[in-house]
Amino acid sequence: MTVGQACPVAIPSSTLITQIGELVTNDPDGFAAIADAALVIEDGAVAWTGPAGQAPAADSVVDAGGRAVLPGFVDSHAHLVFAGERSAEFAARMAGRPYQAGGILTTVAATRAASDVALRANLRRLAAEMLGQGTTTFECKSGYGLTVADEARSLALAAEVTPEVTYLGAHVVPPEFAGDVPGYVDLVCGPMLDACAPHARWIDVFCEDGAFGADEAAAVLAAGRARGLGARIHANQLGPGPGIRVAAQAGAPAADHCTYTTDEDLDTIVSAPLVATLLPGAEFGTRHPYPDARRLLDAGATVALATDCNPGSSFTSSMAFCIALAVRDMRMTTQEAVWAATAGGARALRRTDVGHLGVGARADLILLDAPSHAYLAYRPGVPQVAAVWQSGHPAEGRVP
Ligand code: NIG
Ligand code: FE
Repeated sequence: MTVGQACPVAIPSSTLITQIGELVTNDPDGFAAIADAALVIEDGAVAWTGPAGQAPAADSVVDAGGRAVLPGFVDSHAHLVFAGERSAEFAARMAGRPYQAGGILTTVAATRAASDVALRANLRRLAAEMLGQGTTTFECKSGYGLTVADEARSLALAAEVTPEVTYLGAHVVPPEFAGDVPGYVDLVCGPMLDACAPHARWIDVFCEDGAFGADEAAAVLAAGRARGLGARIHANQLGPGPGIRVAAQAGAPAADHCTYTTDEDLDTIVSAPLVATLLPGAEFGTRHPYPDARRLLDAGATVALATDCNPGSSFTSSMAFCIALAVRDMRMTTQEAVWAATAGGARALRRTDVGHLGVGARADLILLDAPSHAYLAYRPGVPQVAAVWQSGHPAEGRVP
């Protein structure tokens, strides 16, 4: 077809999905669903939701056959730009060896040695893996380059696949700065930030013993803020620490991990407020205890769930797996867990267009091969995503 010729196939501008057994729409503050529902997509957004019997006509119709439809998952914490793998380290941990943040440097060496082509291929493979499992929005960090050039190229690659790009130069101190933490923080806040800020929306720091302390973390987040980057933080992952307090002081929307929280941390999360982004894949992969989601929720905290997908602590891209862990081992209800994996993630990223299916939301949705959202935890490990739409378009290979 030459340019200017009429397209022979009419592209429907509206799609009705009907006979939905359970349509999870979500409210800003909690799970909401409509039984025996329908939904209309128009111009990439949700145009109508309601009882199937009252649905308006549309250009094309999809019969959900009584199955459930959910908002696409919002994975607000992932490290997808890397090379190599660390399965031997995982196997050793399962045999009793403790997790050490130093393993990150193994991936740093592999990432530095990798070509752009190899990094891009691995990143795209993971992004496609996520989409196929229903993740329609994801955040992606750098953090395995740790030189000006390697951090900048990691972020440029991440920006090819998502707008939620996070500069994590302050992941760990690289070997060439061993013994000179202040020197590395100066690099992260200076020339590295100059090179990275144009590619990123967020800045992150691993605030932990063996990584960066409270003052260093605060300095990194302040430097990012001065360049227009929002704050993110790895906080209280491997032990108690100042991360949650630093997150609140930096005006971050969320504190990520929150595995070891004191009563004071809990107060900070609720009063700041911070979304407590829980990453149970990391506890699964390190044998640390799961964060106490029930305590957070009962105190009034907003909880998000994310994968933390990375080759060290949590090599899963499955939000369904995280939901199952949260329900089984963190005492979240199925409704709380699904809300946390959709609307909670959106809140953690300060996004109002995703994570719910209210009228006007981006038409990012999942058709489950199951009658209700509960099956995500009820049938752990089973692929149940029958179809995915992103901005109203059926995702490649997942057409119903
Ligand atoms: O979120 N905590 C720091 N970063 C990752 C681990 C990265 C790695 O082990 O490679 C995390 O768990
Ligand atoms: Fe992480």
